[in-house]
Amino acid sequence: MARNYRIAVIPGDGIGKETVPEGLRVLDAAATRFGFSLKLDHYDWSCETYQKTGAMMPPDGLDRLRESDSIFLGAVGWPGVPDHVSLWGLLIPIRRSFDQYVNLRPCRLMPGARTPLAGRTEADIDFYVVRENTEGEYSSSGGRHFEGTEREFVSQLTVMTRHGVDRILRYAFELARTRPRRHVTSATKSNGITFTMPYWDERFALMAQQYPDVSTAQYHIDILCAHFVQHPDWFDVVVGSNLFGDILSDLGPAVAGSIGIAPSANINPERVHPSMFEPVHGSAPDIAGRHVCNPIGQVWSGAMMLEHLGEKAAADAIVAAIETLLREGGPRTRDMGGQAGTAEVGRALAEIVARA
Ligand code: NAI
Ligand code: MG
Repeated sequence: MARNYRIAVIPGDGIGKETVPEGLRVLDAAATRFGFSLKLDHYDWSCETYQKTGAMMPPDGLDRLRESDSIFLGAVGWPGVPDHVSLWGLLIPIRRSFDQYVNLRPCRLMPGARTPLAGRTEADIDFYVVRENTEGEYSSSGGRHFEGTEREFVSQLTVMTRHGVDRILRYAFELARTRPRRHVTSATKSNGITFTMPYWDERFALMAQQYPDVSTAQYHIDILCAHFVQHPDWFDVVVGSNLFGDILSDLGPAVAGSIGIAPSANINPERVHPSMFEPVHGSAPDIAGRHVCNPIGQVWSGAMMLEHLGEKAAADAIVAAIETLLREGGPRTRDMGGQAGTAEVGRALAEIVARA
């Protein structure tokens, strides 16, 4: 049986329109070499769409996406449209409706990438941040009371469900099992936050019992941030609540170098709904339209998509191509100290992938 996947493609705004075509070029090379096919549905949903129609996507947008196996996204956001409009009009509805409860970011120092940490090499920085993406601190529970009076107060409730906590922890442990070091670190703050975080710790300890082959550690979020900078080599899989994961999933790629190469995934592990794959970076209005942006974050996100679809060999070939290009002095964009344009890097990667 021919393997065929249906992919919804949303380039979005700014450099998303430049990186997505390169991501597709490399995916296409991988499909040819590894014998599967991709059926692409292109959607131009973006801030431009919002300015024309008053909505980031049409009313039946989510239903159209629902039919796809995966969503491949560039970046969303553009000056003139408030960021909360673009975020809540497109990305958040996709993440929530499709129960993409895992936000996954590999943090890996690639050859030739410049880490801000002195003296660190590729062997020292290679871990994943696993962020809970649907509950926790980012609940809409709470409010502002007695507004404008001396009694004014605000509150915001953190919501942790057993279901929500356990499923993200389980994902982290399962991921660790696929990696040589088999180690999971939990981000906590159970010294200062006295109900939800001790609960998180308790569920973590119980989950760990089910994975005796995986070693564990846990740190309070403050010192954990310091350890990311001082000891990135301690980490393999790091799991955190929505807020702590948010912080770590920006800090992690930052210690690994250029924002232009960092990929991410929003995953519904049960595959009831499509998952979404996108680079960590945004639409970069400062360089958009000049075809100088780095396409590697997008290309690597494509590799994560193929891995999720079960095309592990193809995914590995794409990541290996990125390493080869960077190690062997292939074309690179300005953010990595080169002169090449976006498409030049994309073509070079596609050629490496195509080589059997
Ligand atoms: P940004 O990631 O777009 O840009 C930050 C800096 O990194 C800029 O100097 C930019 O030129 C550089 N940069 C980013 N990607 C690059 C690449 N591939 N190659 C070379 N350089 C690159 O973040 P910023 O400026 O805070 O946000 C711009 C817009 O993007 C905003 O509207 C924001 O809301 C949106 N955004 C969207 C995201 C998404 O779609 N998931 C994520 C982050 C921001
Ligand atoms: Mg963030």
